[in-house]
Amino acid sequence: MSALADVVGRSSVIVCCGSGGVGKTTTAAALGLEAARTGRRVVVVTIDPARRLADALGLAGGLTGEPQQLPVEAGDGELWAMMLDAPAMFERVVRSNATDADQADRIVANAFYRNMATALSGTQEYMASEALYELHTDERFDLVVVDTPPSRNAIEFLEAPGVLARFLDHKAFKLMMLPTRTGLKMFSAATQPMLRLIGKVVGSDVLSDAVAFFQAFAGMEVGFRERADAVATLLRAPDTEFVLVTSPQHDALVEAAWFADQLTSRGYGVSTTVVNRVHPRFGVGTVADARTRADKAAASGREQLAATWANLADLRAVADLERAEVDDLLGHTGSPVVEVPLLPTDVHDLDSLAHIGRHLFTDG
Ligand SMILES: Nc1ncnc2c1ncn2[C@@H]1O[C@H](COP(=O)(O)OP(=O)(O)OP(=O)(O)O)[C@@H](O)[C@H]1O
Ligand SMILES: [Mg+2]
Repeated sequence: MSALADVVGRSSVIVCCGSGGVGKTTTAAALGLEAARTGRRVVVVTIDPARRLADALGLAGGLTGEPQQLPVEAGDGELWAMMLDAPAMFERVVRSNATDADQADRIVANAFYRNMATALSGTQEYMASEALYELHTDERFDLVVVDTPPSRNAIEFLEAPGVLARFLDHKAFKLMMLPTRTGLKMFSAATQPMLRLIGKVVGSDVLSDAVAFFQAFAGMEVGFRERADAVATLLRAPDTEFVLVTSPQHDALVEAAWFADQLTSRGYGVSTTVVNRVHPRFGVGTVADARTRADKAAASGREQLAATWANLADLRAVADLERAEVDDLLGHTGSPVVEVPLLPTDVHDLDSLAHIGRHLFTDG
């Protein structure tokens, strides 16, 4: 059994991560398809605003914020997919933590909150981790595959669960959250000139929205912190696996190697690294063989043949370089490396996804 087939068979959470555009969504979809085919009830959740998961699965109608079952032949297995609706998820999180509907309404109506729900850096990652937790506890599924957002920095996803708890824990905000007059008095006395200055820059409305926002959260910090801890524990659980996706280009490999080290040193399990869009090897023989043949063909006046051999030499050189760099830069990580070749077309239906799957789940 290949390393990835084993991961798909035994994990209950798989997180596909890596830098932008390397093939995370494609890999997540292929893992989901294979899991369903091997009898698992799997849900793939994407945060991809570009609707790439729907595209990879060949779904013309797109995906919604609710899991939707896909019509795949999967024996006892089931394949479900959903696209995270971050603002709706955020509201659910607020409502489930609020002490009553009033408190939730106050937060949700707050302009500062609305800004944060749509624009705060890390909100998507944070909501992805919440969705992951929710789906993990959903009886309908025994495997959740998470396709992480195209973050500027892949590490953001790992830090996301605690983002709001840390935000609310911050000293300045704690001061703002203090209920009653005393809090406000202290707050005003200590920070009045500063506040006036900030108010001038961001506008006094924004500032009072922010103050109202933090006051509205009073009493909810503990719930957020507990959930953040639970999500962090889930991400480090023995049956949670990270599948790191990268392209074979030098910069992407350097970043992937760094990320693999980060994951391991923070206690996460990197099960496999997928090197996607690798140039295939062309025939047997070396770069030098192809160059010799090109020279011979040129010497005997066969221009076309010479050009073909020269092309082959270049392609072999690219393939060799990629393999050498993969060994060089990923060798030390110790996790198995699976290569997926560059396909002639984009991956936008179940057939091409199955093609990717054949490379992911076949040894050697
Ligand atoms: N092996 C492959 N051969 C050819 N095309 C591929 C291959 N893998 C992925 N692609 C194509 O590359 C593009 C990017 O892939 P994908 O959307 O999976 O990347 P991503 O890492 O999820 O990107 P983002 O960071 O933007 O979310 C897609 O158009 C996809 O069809
Ligand atoms: Mg993507």
